[in-house]
Amino acid sequence: MQIAVIAGDGIGKDVTVEAVKVLQQVSSVFDAPIVLEHLPWGADHFLRTGETLPAGGYDLLRSFDAVFVGALGDPRVPDNRHARDILLGTRFELDLYVNYRPVRLLADRLCPLKHRGRADVNFVVFRENTEGVYVGIGGRFKAGTPDEVAIQEEINTYKGVHRIIRYAFAYAATHNLTKVCMADKSNAMQQGHALWQRVFHEVAAEFPGIAATHQYIDALAMFLVRDPGQYEVIVTNNLFGDIVTDIGGALQGGLGMAASGNLHPGRTSLFEPVHGSAPPLAGRNVANPMGAILSVALMLETLGPTAEAKAIEAAVEATVRAGETTADIGGSLGTREVGDRIAAALM
Ligand code: NAD
Ligand code: IPM
Ligand code: MN
Repeated sequence: MQIAVIAGDGIGKDVTVEAVKVLQQVSSVFDAPIVLEHLPWGADHFLRTGETLPAGGYDLLRSFDAVFVGALGDPRVPDNRHARDILLGTRFELDLYVNYRPVRLLADRLCPLKHRGRADVNFVVFRENTEGVYVGIGGRFKAGTPDEVAIQEEINTYKGVHRIIRYAFAYAATHNLTKVCMADKSNAMQQGHALWQRVFHEVAAEFPGIAATHQYIDALAMFLVRDPGQYEVIVTNNLFGDIVTDIGGALQGGLGMAASGNLHPGRTSLFEPVHGSAPPLAGRNVANPMGAILSVALMLETLGPTAEAKAIEAAVEATVRAGETTADIGGSLGTREVGDRIAAALM
């Protein structure tokens, strides 16, 4: 198995060291060789060379079985140009249309909600990952003047909406789940989100055994806090999915716990924690590496070695149960020490 590793910026570097440590340990415990190639792309590389990713960079990524990313974002690059090319660019160029973000609470005490626990926080979010407002179509007129006009278009295509909604239903069907909730803002966005409505009803009709419900995104955000137990599968657009999965991170104990996969079934996919580069925490051995480590588990689950993936998940759960965690979820260990405990728990 050949994996490209882009540690990126800030705490992306800190958590990637631990994710790689756990990946190497699992590979040795299961005697399944893994070849890693570290790519230096990120803010430092951009500031030194002026290059976000090299010519042929996306083709290079396609030559691996999977890509692991720490995080991208650095205050020295105020327009985040490198992150747009490396992260969003890869999502678009590799057509990684499924952003798979499971939200699973690993211990009741991590839940920020009163009287809620593991039974209430266990669902997956499928975020459309190649369209919406992220495509960067638009422009500015009279920029820098009091008359400035800024246009940022939202793109919704039948193909794009259909494939993510269908993926969500198919996932539910193959995982013995019976509920899919689609969230949009079709009461205000009468063109693009009318398409989501139409496609949702069309696809739901193919899956009569699955209860298909709809919530407007504002109501869904509220219900995620009041009653997250009602959800099994949520499917939504790119921007709304970005926002609700940060709420999902909070429900798991914090952003440091949340994992994700950017998928195109059958092709090279990209795995990363949901969190960003958290510049104030960078290099201080305080960032929680569990989201990154659980993203390695998602990567293995997707590539096939499910026993390895389950072993990593079990090791993370055991480490959480033992309270051997970073401070954001109540422990007193550093990033490296948590990585060591999880790697040791794999044996
Ligand atoms: P962030 O996720 O970096 O941090 C938000 C908050 O969560 C902070 O309070 C931080 O301390 C906390 N946090 C995040 N990860 C944590 C961890 N592993 N352990 C403990 N606490 C953690 O979001 P932000 O501050 O809005 O963004 C910082 C930079 O990261 C920006 O440049 C942004 O664009 C970028 N970003 C990148 C990605 C990515 O690469 N996938 C995702 C989100 C944000
Ligand atoms: C995420 C991040 C990215 C996004 C940023 C860094 C562009 O927030 O992966 O959730 O909005 O998709
Ligand atoms: Mn985000």
